[in-house]
Amino acid sequence: MEKAHLEVRQVTPALKKGLEDLFSALRAAGDEKWFHPHALNIEILEWLTHYKGKDLYYAMAEGEAVLAYGMLRGWDEGYEIPSLGIAVHPRVRRKGLAAAFLHFLHAAARRRGAKAVRLTVDGDNVAALTLYKNMGYQFKIEDLNRSVGMKYLE
Ligand SMILES: CC(C)(COP(=O)(O)OP(=O)(O)OC[C@H]1O[C@@H](n2cnc3c(N)ncnc32)[C@H](O)[C@@H]1OP(=O)(O)O)[C@@H](O)C(=O)NCCC(=O)NCCS
Repeated sequence: MEKAHLEVRQVTPALKKGLEDLFSALRAAGDEKWFHPHALNIEILEWLTHYKGKDLYYAMAEGEAVLAYGMLRGWDEGYEIPSLGIAVHPRVRRKGLAAAFLHFLHAAARRRGAKAVRLTVDGDNVAALTLYKNMGYQFKIEDLNRSVGMKYLE
């Protein structure tokens, strides 16, 4: 069978199994310590794959396999600057997927009229901090364990 091509898709019920596999791999790798926008369990998938609000939830997929999950949240709650979250499957890291996905998420936020995106990172999450700094995020240390990053889009 021909290999499916890489694409970024909005999360839909068709991606439920792929997301379940990704969440389970993230849990097994201990990444819930870094990435906890919501629980990474089966229960959340019913809500996530049927979500219809203003926030944006995306998957980087190859067919039914989800390689990365990313989101821009905050519009539902009335914020103008969305919060970004991203996680890549442990099997396919250091291949540029997060960098490419971030460019996409920044463009999606710009299309919505956002002037910036924000995120929070644990101070010892070296991979994420290096990635975000290389992508132009400016950081403010919130407390000993967490930094808030801002990326201006204009
Ligand atoms: C952080 C994360 C999203 C990076 O995903 P990725 O697809 O491996 O990242 P990329 O391959 O696009 O890396 C782009 C750049 O980021 C930096 N980077 C990524 N992983 C790194 C690591 N482990 N150590 C140091 N720098 C790293 C490098 O500068 C890299 O460029 P290079 O490979 O040319 O040196 C991934 O490690 C992950 O999902 N971690 C767990 C969840 C998480 O922490 N999410 C962020 C919460 S704030």
